[in-house]
Order: sequence, then C-alpha cells, then structure tokens
Amino acid sequence: MIWHPFTAQLGGEAPLKISRAEREYVFDVEGRRYVDAIASWWTVIHGHNHPQIVGAINRQLAELDHVIFAGFTHESAELVDRALMHLTGERFTHTFFSDNGSTAVEVMLKLAVQYWHNEGQPARNVFIKFDSAYHGDTVGAMSAGGESVFNRAFEPLLFKTKSFRYPQQDADLTVLDEIETWVRQNRDSAAGIIVEPLIAAAGGMHFQEPQLLTAIDRICKSYDLLLLFDEVFTGLGRTGKMFAYEHAGVTPDLLALAKGLTGGSLPLAVTLVAERVHRSFASADAQKTFYHGHTMSGNPLGCAAAVASLALCNEEKFLPQVRALQQKMLRYWRNLEGLFPERLHSARSLGAVSAANLHTGSAAAGYTFRHGAEMRRQALAEGVILRPLGNVIYVTPPYNISDSALEKTFACIGEIINDYEP
Ligand SMILES: Cc1ncc(COP(=O)(O)O)c(C=O)c1O
Repeated sequence: MIWHPFTAQLGGEAPLKISRAEREYVFDVEGRRYVDAIASWWTVIHGHNHPQIVGAINRQLAELDHVIFAGFTHESAELVDRALMHLTGERFTHTFFSDNGSTAVEVMLKLAVQYWHNEGQPARNVFIKFDSAYHGDTVGAMSAGGESVFNRAFEPLLFKTKSFRYPQQDADLTVLDEIETWVRQNRDSAAGIIVEPLIAAAGGMHFQEPQLLTAIDRICKSYDLLLLFDEVFTGLGRTGKMFAYEHAGVTPDLLALAKGLTGGSLPLAVTLVAERVHRSFASADAQKTFYHGHTMSGNPLGCAAAVASLALCNEEKFLPQVRALQQKMLRYWRNLEGLFPERLHSARSLGAVSAANLHTGSAAAGYTFRHGAEMRRQALAEGVILRPLGNVIYVTPPYNISDSALEKTFACIGEIINDYEP
C-alpha cells in the first residue's frame, strides 16, 4: 500500500486517481477535469505538461539519462548554472544541485555552518529563524522552521536555533530591535539569519513588507552574519519579480530554489552560493571540502527540464502575466470579503499568490483547523483543487491560468465560504 504524505492513516478518504494533465487542469481516471488552483504544491508555474518542457526532457532522455555528478558534468547542468547566474544578475558565483526544497535548504544550512568552521569560528552555528517559517521536512530544515504540528514529535532531534516572532504586513517591526539585541549578545555563536523572504508560505501565507528584509540585511552586515533566503516558494516570478529579494534590493549569501525550477515536471533543486561563501571553500585542503551530495545530484533530465523552464521565465510576458494575475485575484478576494464580512478577513495578493483568512469563532485556527478536510472535499466536488492551510484559503495557480479557470476557482471558494459556519 502507498503511504501518502501529510495524510492521516485512518479515517480519511481514498486519494483521487489522476491520469493526465494539461495547462491549469488535471483529469481523473473517469475523465473529470479539475482546476489545479495550487499548481500541485506550487510547482507547475507554466502549466502542466508544457510542450517546451516535455520536449526538452524527451530530447535529453534520448541522449543521456544520468551520470554520476562527482568528477563528471554535462551540458544541461552547465546551462542551468549559466541561466541562474544570469537571472540573478551574477550576484552568485556557484550552483549546488540537489533534489527538493528541503535538501536545498539543508545545503544552505550546512554550507553556512561549514563556512564558519572553515573561517576558524566553529562556535558560530546558531541560526536566527522566524516562528511562522516552514523550510521543509528533513531534520535540518525542520530545525530552521517554526514550532508546529509538523515538527513537534521530532523536537528532541532538532538542533538549537533562536526563534523570533515573524512580523506580518503592517505589524510593528520592534522584533528587529529584539533580534539586534540578541545578536549583539551572541556574536560568537550566531551563524546567520534564515528567512522565507516576503511570504511565510506553508506557515499560513503571511505577507511581510520588503523593509523587513532590508532591516535584516542591515543587521547581517553590521554583525557579519550570513543571510540565507529560502526562495523555494517565492523564487522564479511568484511574487511578481523574478526573486523576492529584488523587492527589497538586498542580496543573500545563500539562496535555495526548487518547486518552479523544472516547472513541476521533475525533482530538482539548487542552492545558489555567493562569492563570499565559496571563497572559504576554495582550497585543496580536504578539511575544507563540502562533503555533501545526493545520488541523483544534477540529474540530466531534471536539468534539461530546468533549462526549458528558465527559458520560459525569461520570456517578455512572464512577469507581466504574474502582475496581472495579482490584480485579478485581489479583485475576486475583495468581492468575497464584501459578500462575507463576518466570515472572511485579511484578503491579500502578491504576484501569483493570494489568500484570505476565515474567522474561526472559538475553533483553533492552525493547520489542524477542523473544517480543512471538508473544504478540500467540497472544492474537489466543484472541480477545483484547493488545500487550505488551516483557516487560510489560498490560491497559487499556474501563472498562465485562464480567466475562465480563475473565475471557476473563486466561484468555488464563494460556495465554500457561503456554506461555512464559524
Ligand atoms: C519555503 C519552502 N521551503 C522549503 C520547502 C520544502 O520543499 P520540498 O517539499 O520540495 O522539500 C517548501 C515546501 O513547501 C517551502 O514552501
């Protein structure tokens, strides 16, 4: 039997069997069509089965399926590296390949720790993090995340971090003074700050102002900390700019990317490394080598898919289409807020991410919010794939979703809210 992710092993419904997909739609084995309003866990940024990505994978498969990535390289990996260096304006110098968002984050954390080790300051291994953060499910990524039902059972395994309140949009930024005070007192142990820039995604689609990133960057520079950005979700156009860091005009030392990298077609992730960090590893000394890798690191098929996906990101219409989507989604949410002021609040939209919160009455609002499963079921019955995060309903569709599919999605959300009783 298959054990599905994030799925209770008793009492749930059988998973829906899907047989094909096209653009913003997936089709079940009965031929029923569903709008993929969450882009299959935020990956399918160009729509499902994009012909350019499918073609690139097929061409690659005809030539080279896989090759060990230590001591060997290949054209597609080199093209991914070049494309990413170009897209990031040459702010980084190196691309480290892995397979998913969690491992891309894990690589950031390990590189940061070994950086301080190589620099002769091994005690600098404590990361500053935020309480709404989610960075993935491996032990390092869980350690860098906020406390939640996801990592509670593993608490004894998690390494030490220093957690601060995540300042949400319009909230006061006094937390920055708290961070600065802590850093001043813990200069010898602080390694860096890890953040999901602009949007704490799985933590509840919390938005923040770019000024927060500017201020965090200032603290890092003043106290010589490394700045780690997890752009697994926000990278590649999601926020209306190619990378979230562009909104604040700051450059991190390390950046994790996954999800949209292959347009959702194959598992591939990267960690981009700035010159400052790489320089510390530029040595023939075995003690300074980064001993990390995965069997499928730099897989040619994933890389070919990424080259095609990144070429689509470079097209002129790519970012304008995301910005137009932001406005369209905001209009829909504002309309729903107007219709259901007692049930819905905090409508927000940035790039291809939009969300609003349900008033929960006396019920707990977290990930285990009791109406979540029922709302997912209701959406499926209406032909839409939604996956609320607790009481937060969000829409993160493929960037090229059609107007008709978007309308269907929000009509479905309207039905759900109409039937919802706090
Ligand atoms: C910001 C962020 N980082 C890391 C991850 C983990 O990525 P993966 O599920 O590919 O391991 C996620 C997944 O949702 C994410 O949103």
